[in-house]
Amino acid sequence: MKISVIGTGYVGLVTGVCLASKGHQVICIDKQAEIVNKINSKISPIYEPGLEDLLSNVIEKGKLVATTDLKSAVMNTDISIISVGTPFGDGKIDLRYIESAAKEIGNVLKQKNGYHVICVKSTVIPTTTDTLVKNILEDSSGKKTGDFGLAMNPEFLREGKAVEDFMYPDRIVIGAYDQESFETMKKVYEDFFDSPIIRVNLRTAEMIKYTANALLATLISYSNEVSVICEKVGNIDVKEVLEAVTLDKRFNPRVNNQLINPGMVSYLRAGCGFGGSCFPKDVQALSAFSNEMGYPPFMIQATLEINNAQPYRLIERLLESLGTLENKKIAVLGLSFKPETDDIRESPSLAIIKGLLAKKAKVIGVDPVAIDNTKKKFPQNDSLYYSADYKNALKDADAAILVTQWPDYIKISPQEFKDLMKVPILVDGRRVFNKSAFEAAGVQYIGVGLT
Ligand code: UDX
Ligand code: UDX
Repeated sequence: MKISVIGTGYVGLVTGVCLASKGHQVICIDKQAEIVNKINSKISPIYEPGLEDLLSNVIEKGKLVATTDLKSAVMNTDISIISVGTPFGDGKIDLRYIESAAKEIGNVLKQKNGYHVICVKSTVIPTTTDTLVKNILEDSSGKKTGDFGLAMNPEFLREGKAVEDFMYPDRIVIGAYDQESFETMKKVYEDFFDSPIIRVNLRTAEMIKYTANALLATLISYSNEVSVICEKVGNIDVKEVLEAVTLDKRFNPRVNNQLINPGMVSYLRAGCGFGGSCFPKDVQALSAFSNEMGYPPFMIQATLEINNAQPYRLIERLLESLGTLENKKIAVLGLSFKPETDDIRESPSLAIIKGLLAKKAKVIGVDPVAIDNTKKKFPQNDSLYYSADYKNALKDADAAILVTQWPDYIKISPQEFKDLMKVPILVDGRRVFNKSAFEAAGVQYIGVGLT
């Protein structure tokens, strides 16, 4: 099929490249010429494992091109997938990019003959597609929905695993305005035959996406809340508690007498909180939307509050141990919101750096790929510097906080911490290290949910 993808951020680019690799003819559109040029030069504007190779491959095969020219792209395709950003701002979801994309597409549809489906892939609050987007498309095209198709097809892509998640989806949710919209969207996913296709209405598709993200975020906050209780009581390790809890057969069924340890179980693990481009903004948007509908959502709100507090709890633990952080050199190991990405949006590292600077510490941020992005978030500051080399950061440090479980960092041995640091104290924000091994090597170990 001929598909245009509007907005080539994480979601749009992965969608365009993966659909092209399945044989579709794809045109990616972005307002930023710099991004378009990079894509056409086979350079991925974002760091995402496997993406650049696939991009290069589909460009060489002539299956994908990028352009800033939305009009010709829509004119020459049968489906337009909207994947512009939907940030959270001013207390609610900011839909301005969705509005402008819908308007631009509608203006083209006015002059276009033939059936065209508009599909919203961006995460949008329920009712956005069947009211706002539908109305804008109708107004700007002068046509009625039905003359053109309308769909909502949420993404479930984890950063760092986005290509794999797109190619092997857990489920394909298609919210469709009518049968023809659905049939057309189904053809897009014809080659993904192993994955269940779930047909729902437009607003249900939108709600599925929010509910999925809010559930995972809530499990993380629940684990973090339990970790605080364990710390308060003393001599209880939250890790042991949650590991035992998740052996319940409803989390961890036995198949052929083997425990299957589903990935879901990892969401019941305490840490320094969730970040990223999705969980924080989506949970906030759902909460704001629910308030607007007249229902203050207690649990969703608590999920956010626990998450906002969690990074600062790590600093409090360190303060208890060091007495003061003033002029102490603290290494923050990992800046990206999770490993295998340079994305630092809402990363717990940002709150941790802010908290440390407020306590007058000297902070050194360490990351293999996310330093440049982090630099943009903080003004030039004599107390904050960076290194791509963890050894350099740990050298003479008064403490280290592990924030992102990059493979190279979780391999650092207790002896290496001990040899490099001035005062060997490690705050394990992800509970990946072995406390006894660290203590045996003479390193003070502070773990989330463990006193
Ligand atoms: C996506 C989804 O769109 C969002 O709803 C979801 O919840 C998370 O993932 P993301 O891919 O991270 O967002 O978006 P972003 O990195 O903001 O990129 C959007 C791209 O769209 C940018 O490259 C921007 O230049 C482009 N854009 C934006 C347009 O081309 N046209 C516009 O009108 C607006
Ligand atoms: C998430 C969803 O998983 C994905 O389905 C959706 O489409 C987009 O949002 P992503 O943000 O890439 O994907 O990351 P994910 O791996 O789910 O992690 C989100 C955050 O939660 C990270 O900051 C991670 O460190 C944190 N996390 C995850 C925890 O704190 N504890 C955990 O047990 C798991």
